[in-house]
Amino acid sequence: MLSATIGRVPKFALFVALALTFIIVIHISSFPSLSKWKLPVLGGQQPQITTATEDASQESPQKASQEPSPDLSAIPCQSLKGGEDVLVVMRTGATEIKDKLPAHLNTTFQCYPHLVIFSDFAEDFHGREVHDVLRDIPDEIKSKNDDFKHYLHVQEAGRQNLNDDELSGKISAESGPVGKSDNAGWRLDKWKFLPMINRTLEMYPDKKWYVFVEPDTYLVWSNLLQWLPKLKPDKPLYYGSEVMIGDDVFAHGGSAFVMSKPAMEKGAEIYNEKVNELHDFTAGHWAGDCVLGKALHDAGVDLTWSWPQFQGGNPSFSMGWTDHKTDHVLWCTPAISYHHLTPYEVRDFWQFEQTWIRSVLAKQKHNRERGLPFRFWGDDMTNVLHHRDTFKLYVMPNITQERNHWNNTPEVPAPDTQGITLEDCRERCEENDDCLQYALGPDGCSTGREPRMGQEDETTTAGWMPERIEEWVKDLDHCWNKDGWAVT
Ligand SMILES: *[C@@H]1O[C@H](CO)[C@@H](O)[C@H](O)[C@H]1NC(C)=O
Ligand SMILES: *[C@@H]1O[C@H](CO)[C@@H](O)[C@H](O)[C@H]1NC(C)=O
Ligand SMILES: *[C@@H]1O[C@H](CO)[C@@H](O)[C@H](O)[C@H]1NC(C)=O
Repeated sequence: MLSATIGRVPKFALFVALALTFIIVIHISSFPSLSKWKLPVLGGQQPQITTATEDASQESPQKASQEPSPDLSAIPCQSLKGGEDVLVVMRTGATEIKDKLPAHLNTTFQCYPHLVIFSDFAEDFHGREVHDVLRDIPDEIKSKNDDFKHYLHVQEAGRQNLNDDELSGKISAESGPVGKSDNAGWRLDKWKFLPMINRTLEMYPDKKWYVFVEPDTYLVWSNLLQWLPKLKPDKPLYYGSEVMIGDDVFAHGGSAFVMSKPAMEKGAEIYNEKVNELHDFTAGHWAGDCVLGKALHDAGVDLTWSWPQFQGGNPSFSMGWTDHKTDHVLWCTPAISYHHLTPYEVRDFWQFEQTWIRSVLAKQKHNRERGLPFRFWGDDMTNVLHHRDTFKLYVMPNITQERNHWNNTPEVPAPDTQGITLEDCRERCEENDDCLQYALGPDGCSTGREPRMGQEDETTTAGWMPERIEEWVKDLDHCWNKDGWAVT
């Protein structure tokens, strides 16, 4: 919705002269050159860190023993500082928990010192306590409102006894214009937001920050911990990717959103004050994230627009890598979240982030041992994973060769190409200078101008133009001095 792009080319042109010196600085400090893309080996493989650490410890062993170094063999995210102030709140439901939550147990959940899981059914899930966040909704609403049929059914039958056709499965589909209204679990979800604020505050009244996620959200934890210290936790603050329904502006739920303690208090206060009114409003609305945003607005807490740090796109197949809006350029901005990840992708991306953290920690250790300044949690933006890093280090290595049973969904179908060979399809792309990728499927050949990794698809073969993509990357890397946090 609001994340649609607005052209800013003329403004960029004006910046060029002024930004020239900055661009040079950025180029020196920002990114490994193209030839070094593969330095950190990603995607589930064992990370390869530069040999600098070993060299350094040989040079100055006494220095190395002065300060405790992070244990690089442990899970890298666990050596990061600052997580004590943060509560992660996972909101899920009985129709999806079995398919979507396990991917987090041994990955992202290992990183969060404080986590609470809310659902519509209380249970012990692989040793984690899951709370029924709808517990305190009055029985009268539960019995009168059709949205709660599913809830009452689950309470009675038990989550384990739901049939396969009652489950939502592993795929995280885009919702339509009014959401996934044919899905019982989804219709219930909107009721969870306000009670979730109230219960969270009751259970954890003293965190500085509360971060709300769903199972198909990927939270870039190492970036979040670098970003939060720049904000003011004693003010009522509410951050997320801005969406608008009518006049209501709110943080998109699936892209993660962040609230300070005072914002939580104001949210809980208005909920308790106007509980009937807000329940009526929820009954007539379809989006729980909007209900929360409106309640917060009425309580005097407005959303701080935080796109593109918070992202509704999936790094493999639905990112608008060239998107920009007002002063913000997606490519040049740090990543706090992604959305619509499959369980496989949650695990894969988590491995990727751990590799990234490990390489930053190694750099930090290396600098410390040489007496060089380092600021892992400071202002060194090379320690922050930008969306461009996700492209270069996570997507690029996977799009160098043609891939069978794979679809990168190029946007332009070439007419009358059913049954042509892959070579002919590739030629169609070569003929057109703008073409960066192609795919051949049962409907023929299609070509596209935005590179995407894509997803499995039995009937299709995907291919890319790696050299052209390198040029495309170089162009985008001119960040017009728009690097860095979108919001501070
Ligand atoms: C990308 O490639 C790596 C290495 O081959 C692999 O482990 C990873 O799963 C791939 N990612 C995707 C989404 O295909
Ligand atoms: C998590 O890891 C443990 C130990 O390696 C393993 O026993 C367990 O099955 C894993 N759980 C999931 C959900 O992958
Ligand atoms: C909010 O939580 C408090 C406990 O902290 C509880 O007494 C109150 O009933 C809850 N409010 C609603 C509307 O559920």
